[in-house]
Amino acid sequence: STRRIGVPEITARKGGQPIVSLTAYTTPVARLIDAHADLILVGDSVGMVLYGMPTTLPVTLEMMIAHGQAVMRGTRRACVMVDLPFGSYQESPELAFRAAARVLAETGASAVKLEGGVEMADTIRFLVTRGVPVCGHIGLMPQSVQVAGGFRATGRKLDEAEKLRADARAVDEAGAFAMVLEGVVEPLAAEITGLVATPTIGIGASPHCDGQVLVSDDVFGLFADFTPRFVKRYAELGQQIEAAAEAYAADVRARRFPGPEHCFGVVKPG
Ligand code: KIV
Ligand code: NA
Repeated sequence: STRRIGVPEITARKGGQPIVSLTAYTTPVARLIDAHADLILVGDSVGMVLYGMPTTLPVTLEMMIAHGQAVMRGTRRACVMVDLPFGSYQESPELAFRAAARVLAETGASAVKLEGGVEMADTIRFLVTRGVPVCGHIGLMPQSVQVAGGFRATGRKLDEAEKLRADARAVDEAGAFAMVLEGVVEPLAAEITGLVATPTIGIGASPHCDGQVLVSDDVFGLFADFTPRFVKRYAELGQQIEAAAEAYAADVRARRFPGPEHCFGVVKPG
């Protein structure tokens, strides 16, 4: 069994071979992607993807810990990080530390991720200096959807671009081991990637980032209601699941399933 990829190895990929990241929320999916992803994110997108929540805001620390444990059980190679959910860290560095410490201690994951730039820099520094590796997340921040008024790419306007540069610098200087750039226009994503020492991991943020992350259910074609522009679907598992359910239903209704090979104590003729 190979050793698990460590946080410093992710940081060392700055400007080198792109960091491959995908979300996972469950043991079976984590098992399937462990060999292929460098960094697995137990994202708070779990609320929308697995629980049908309209935003990530209702996701709790308990949910993140339970899904973090599930993903850790299914992995041995990839570095695993867990999102801190809304309400578990914004209030103070101390609250953030308590939440992050629970995540690391109870799941065995290597790191946490939290949303915010300049306003979260003190918190990131507080955690990193106390043993908690932190991945930043700037640009489109789903936990701030109510303030932003929707999910939109950012960085087109001059003031947005200036804020984003400041956020990237602040997260970098606070000691984050990497930072997610979400929904950032291409020229600015490229500029920020050149500006910061820590790797940038893009989602809807151009190929100029040091890595890419996507929600696995989007990649697999499982989450079909809405596919954002930045998603590439590599499979259509949703269609396969529908077809399988339809075939099973037809077999049961026609008494074609179960067949003799699925039954116990079948008396064979002859
Ligand atoms: O929760 C999530 O899936 C994320 C990624 C989209 C970066 O934060
Ligand atoms: Na998230």
